[in-house]
Amino acid sequence: MGADVNVDVSEEIVNRLMELMRRGFDRKKILQVLGSTVSREEFEEAMEIAAARLRSGDKFSRDDLWMDLEGLRYATHEVVARYRAERLRRTGVREIADVSCGVGIQLIFYAMVVRHAYGIDVCPRRLRYAVKNAEKYGVADRITFINADSLDPKTVEAVDADVVYSDPARPPNAPERRLEDLMPSPLLVYRAYSGKTDSFIFDLPPQMERSRVPWRGEFEYIDLNGSLNRLTFYTEPLAETERRAVLLPRGVVIDRDPNLEPIVEVTDEPGEYVYEVSPAVDRADLINELFHAAGGQLKLLLREKRRTLATGDEVLDDRYFKRVYTTVAVVGFHPVRINEVLRREGFGRATLRVSVPPDRYWEIRKRIERGLSGDRRAFVFKVGDRALILEEAERG
Ligand SMILES: C[S@@+](CC[C@H](N)C(=O)[O-])C[C@H]1O[C@@H](n2cnc3c(N)ncnc32)[C@H](O)[C@@H]1O
Repeated sequence: MGADVNVDVSEEIVNRLMELMRRGFDRKKILQVLGSTVSREEFEEAMEIAAARLRSGDKFSRDDLWMDLEGLRYATHEVVARYRAERLRRTGVREIADVSCGVGIQLIFYAMVVRHAYGIDVCPRRLRYAVKNAEKYGVADRITFINADSLDPKTVEAVDADVVYSDPARPPNAPERRLEDLMPSPLLVYRAYSGKTDSFIFDLPPQMERSRVPWRGEFEYIDLNGSLNRLTFYTEPLAETERRAVLLPRGVVIDRDPNLEPIVEVTDEPGEYVYEVSPAVDRADLINELFHAAGGQLKLLLREKRRTLATGDEVLDDRYFKRVYTTVAVVGFHPVRINEVLRREGFGRATLRVSVPPDRYWEIRKRIERGLSGDRRAFVFKVGDRALILEEAERG
């Protein structure tokens, strides 16, 4: 189903489909139940909305939002949308234009903290959903919706805002992460709206090299539940620091501070505790700042593309970290040796946090877990040629 479908379905049909899907009815059976009460087009549209609602999990506080499946994938998680809106509130901004609003989640949370907002999207279907969603959250009367290309001079002309925000669509198969490939490209948005404001907020692909961004400002990396969720760039007038890591939902903030003494030392000997560094802190290159904020005597144990570990002998505030572990054992990295330790220590399962070729992962994991029983879970990391066997500590 394309994103340009133009049929309007009722809340009632979508609710009915959700109910049937929940009861395990497949497409064919649902069609039979509905008979000729809906057109084919309405059926397809309602099926997709119902599927998106059922798949949205804990992304939103409501389960009655309007979105297609791609709109759901793109939509900002509500916890992130709320955090960024609170940040905007602090700046005292009065009007904001979201020039690629999609189904409108970030737009809606921004609208809650400003006097007036614009929601622009080139896709008629998404914009229609954004309007309905804004009504549900009770902010539709504060938003001017425009269904147009936000780069069209006529659209630019119609907008009068202190801040321009864009969360562009990302082409799925772009080999490199470049501003030019995003839709709309932040480079073009900046050029189109720079006569109106110099305050821009852009969502960028979190893995993008910072050197690709041609403006001065702040890079804010946001983790949600321990995974890197967003990279938001704020141009200079809105910047509060040079780089920031935000760990949600706990709300811990770590800022770049060039005046801090460099204290990061590397070790290959794990202490009593091992601390897994949040990806936002890692991507923002704020490990020194993290070590200062967390206090205690931390050392850097491992820094790989997908995981970074610190270690020490003290119990530190766990809010600063993705996970905290206690060290169980260190042995040569061999599945049989690891398995011996796991059996001896009474572990029933092991999670491998090791860079191994995907086709070998299950074979290694099977050998490591052979003959184990029970619920206790170990985590296995590889440092040099040794296996680090850890157990997750209780969070405070
Ligand atoms: C990543 S989604 C936005 C998601 C939104 N921030 C949310 O929280 O739900 C990007 C949107 O940009 C829109 N878009 C792409 N190019 C555009 C353009 N030139 N003008 C207006 N909208 C555009 C797409 O239709 C898509 O809905």
